[in-house]
Formats: sequence, C-alpha cells, structure tokens
Amino acid sequence: MKHHPLKGANRLKLGVFSANADGGLAITDVPERWTASWADNLTAAQIADRAGLEFLLPIARWRGFGGKNRVREWSFETFTWAAALAASTKQIGLFMTVHVPLVHPLYAAKALATVDHVSNGRAGLNIVCGWNPKEFAMFGTSLVEKGYDQAEEWLQVLERAYTSDIPFDYDGTYYKLKEAISRPASLQMPRPVTMNAAFGGPGRDFAARSCDYLFTTFSEINEAGKHVADIRHRAERHRREVGVYTVCHIVCRETQTEAEEYYHRYAVEMADQEAVDTHMAGKKEFSQSHDREAYDRYRQRFAGGAGSYPLVGTPEHIAEQMIAISQQGYAGIALSFVNYTQELPFFCDRVLPLLAQAGYRQ
Ligand SMILES: Cc1cc2nc3c(=O)[nH]c(=O)nc-3n(C[C@H](O)[C@H](O)[C@H](O)COP(=O)(O)O)c2cc1C
Repeated sequence: MKHHPLKGANRLKLGVFSANADGGLAITDVPERWTASWADNLTAAQIADRAGLEFLLPIARWRGFGGKNRVREWSFETFTWAAALAASTKQIGLFMTVHVPLVHPLYAAKALATVDHVSNGRAGLNIVCGWNPKEFAMFGTSLVEKGYDQAEEWLQVLERAYTSDIPFDYDGTYYKLKEAISRPASLQMPRPVTMNAAFGGPGRDFAARSCDYLFTTFSEINEAGKHVADIRHRAERHRREVGVYTVCHIVCRETQTEAEEYYHRYAVEMADQEAVDTHMAGKKEFSQSHDREAYDRYRQRFAGGAGSYPLVGTPEHIAEQMIAISQQGYAGIALSFVNYTQELPFFCDRVLPLLAQAGYRQ
C-alpha cells in the first residue's frame, strides 16, 4: 500500500462530489440531468480515476427534496457504492459519507475496513451529523442537539476498534460497549483518512480536534481565505493541522458565453423551483452550512450546486479561479457537474493541463 491519494504531491487536489445521487448537486429539469444510474457512476468514477483525480466523495441522503423530479430521493448508499468502485478503479481515493446518529460506529468500522482492504488503502470517511429532521424522522429519531459531541465518541470507538486487538469496553455518554472487537482493522493506521463537512463553529472544532480534513463553503473567492484562517486557528489550539477543502459546481465550455448561457439555462430557466425552495428552506432553518446572506443572494447557486461556488467559463478561466482558490489556502476542491460522464472528459482534457503548467498539479 502506498500513501492515501489525499496525501499525494499535488498542491491542489481535486475530486468528484455527489455523483451517487440523483441530480448530483444540481436541482434542474434539463433533459441531460444526472440520474445517477450505476452504469453512469462507474463510467464517471473510471474517467476520474484515469485522469488522476484524487478522490470520489459521495453524499449521504435518505430522502429527496420533492419537486418535479423528486431530486436526490434516489441515491446509492455510500459504503456499498465505495466497495464496488474500489474493485473497479486503480488509484483514486474513495470516501464514504456516514451520518453519525444513524450508523453504529462498530458497523461503520467493519464496512470501512472492508473498503480499505478492497481498495488497498484508498478508503476515506466523511463524518457528518445530519441537518434534515425529516430524514431523521424516517428512522424514528431526531437531530442530536450536540451532534459533534456524539461524533467525537463515535470516532473514538471506531479508532479503538482498529487499534485494539483484544475486546475493549467503552463507557461514554452516547455509546456504552461491552467487549467490543472488530477485525480486520483498516490497512491505513490508526484509521482511514477522515473528513468532516461543516460550516459552523462546533463542526469546525470537531474537525480541528479529530479529523484530517474539513470541507467547507465560501461565498466569494477573494474572501474565502478567512475560513481557512479560522479553521487553522482552531486546529492550532490542539496542535494539529487540518487540510481545508471546498466544493464548486462546474460549467466548463469552449467559450465564456456558451458556459454562462448554459449555467443560466440549467440553474435559472430550467431549475426545479419547488425543490429549490424546499432545499433552501431546510438548509436555512436547520443547518449552518452557509453565510446567512447566501440564501437571499445566491438562489442560482442552490439550483446549480447546492449553494456551492460556481466555476463557469472557459478552461482558462476555470483554471485561473481554481488557482485563486488554492492561493486562498484551500488544499483541494470537490467538483460537481450537471452530467458527470458528459462533462468530465472536457474538464480533465482541458483544465488539468493548465493546472499542471501552472505548477498546481503534476
Ligand atoms: C462537502 C460537503 C459534503 C456534505 N455532505 C453531506 C452529506 O452527505 N449528507 C448530509 O446530510 N450533509 C452533508 N453536508 C452538510 C454538512 O454535514 C453540514 O450539515 C452542513 O455543512 C452544515 O454545517 P454545520 O454542521 O456546521 O451546521 C455536506 C457539506 C459539505 C460542505
């Protein structure tokens, strides 16, 4: 086993986000919208793998946002999805996304270890606490008030499961375990790489204390560095370093006009408005995932890519913006497209060489 792809040499790491879910990150009714079939997931993953992208990051979603297409209602479960892709790819990192309150850490430890073995050390874990009460109600439970306190214990149990070769007891607030054991351990030690996706203070502190990477959002590139500084500061209190990543949705075309017209078409004219309303209202009420003013100013970004930052334009323009994001201190970007299999090849062929020329990737 070599090191995990997220620990590779590229200054700016890149990955594919949310291909396991209907629509990807978009909420649109264009006919080429992503339906997240298994065949398309496999094709997209293999394109990204061959192009040398560092990771695939799935979204954990249990119900959709309604509207015409019941967007996101269809999504593949992420451990099993990653296991299948582990066997069908060669070098790319494979994250799994787990909702702490819905999955027991011993179950997750075994499933994650399985993928780490199948992939020869390419597994990664995205630890989220959840934000959608309707999703939790489906399981007969509700959002946990101090979700990140539970996440802390959850991760301790997972690590103990890997590092302890003999049965152990665990006596926490959320978990009380007797003679727990879980073999095999992961190949990566003491555990596979971990990330947390959060925006608010408690999530940032959890990542600062306990995760390798934090994925977060920003509103404008020129002030995006303030989030990196804040997270670094929080990590320094624990004498740790945390790699900060972000999320962008991409429309890359030969000309700027073509890209902008398509962005307007899919994320304004053809947006699935009812679902956009439901998604935005839920996020605004129950999560701290964005700057507060983002909801009023950036409806197009929510239809275009769940509120993430849009990179829209020519390959040159997109490469420049990615470099600017890197210069703000971000170690990597998770990318979404309207249709991953149709759009990844052009992006990889045209943007990656520009990033290489500029010294950001090999
Ligand atoms: C890159 C990224 C991936 C995320 N993936 C998921 C996910 O798969 N499932 C989910 O319920 N929430 C997901 N979220 C939402 C976060 O877990 C979190 O609820 C949200 O960012 C709010 O942040 P907070 O915990 O600081 O309030 C994701 C967020 C980001 C930035």
